[in-house]
Amino acid sequence: MTHVVVTGSASGIGRAVVDDLLARGCAVTGIDLAEGPAEAQVLHAIADVTDEAAMRAAFSAGVEKWGIADGLVACHGIRGQFVPTLELDLDGARRLLDVHLIGTLVAARCFAEQLPDEATGSIVGVSSTTAYGGWVNQADYGPAKAAVQQLLRNLAIEWAPRIRVNAVAPGHTRTPMVQSMIDNGYDLGPILQRNPLGRLAEPAEMATVINQLLLEDTFVTGVCIPVDGGWTAVGK
Ligand SMILES: NC(=O)c1ccc[n+]([C@@H]2O[C@H](COP(=O)([O-])OP(=O)(O)OC[C@H]3O[C@@H](n4cnc5c(N)ncnc54)[C@H](O)[C@@H]3O)[C@@H](O)[C@H]2O)c1
Repeated sequence: MTHVVVTGSASGIGRAVVDDLLARGCAVTGIDLAEGPAEAQVLHAIADVTDEAAMRAAFSAGVEKWGIADGLVACHGIRGQFVPTLELDLDGARRLLDVHLIGTLVAARCFAEQLPDEATGSIVGVSSTTAYGGWVNQADYGPAKAAVQQLLRNLAIEWAPRIRVNAVAPGHTRTPMVQSMIDNGYDLGPILQRNPLGRLAEPAEMATVINQLLLEDTFVTGVCIPVDGGWTAVGK
């Protein structure tokens, strides 16, 4: 049976990834700061992705329960501050980079460590459309998501051919993260107007692409696929 570790499994896109994996018959180790609901094929582990000792313990618990993990979806994340750069709280910006970039690095290392030399595996991480082009008041988030993309590209080269490593770049998706942005005054109007498909994505739509990229044994590695309703294709 395929065993997939999912970080950020308790909410939003990560939660949808877990649901989709369960529908595909996979066993899941979900790692998050928050508890997940009791489910037959899911082991929930509480860990901060930036804490390598805690992450190793979570991976060990998963491997003990389900056997070697052959897939990792690194889907944890926190939102940016959405303030002018001169007002950015630097401790918050450092924490954001730590969670997104170092958290993805730690998860990938824990995954590679537990994979036997003769085994093959697959990783999908999560970047963002904010990693392309320039965005106002996003000096913290966009650069972190661009860094995640570059990290995964480097790992794809370093760990080939044993581990395929890819990413997706979601557009705005209806999750608690985006809801908290809206609650704090973020205006979705211009976003929806610019998007060729004219709506928010649903978490399940991200999960389908992530899990296909993860589970289908294809020739694809080292890429980042925008899943954005055409956002990055717009030329004006
Ligand atoms: N929702 C969007 O529109 C959107 C767009 C582009 C990219 N993304 C990215 O997709 C991923 C998932 O976002 P989402 O919208 O589902 O967010 P979400 O807030 O709904 O879920 C994120 C999950 O990550 C967990 N998490 C946060 N920090 C953690 C840490 N240090 N250790 C372990 N777990 C931690 C949270 O507890 C939460 O369960 C993130 O990487 C986000 O940056 C989201």
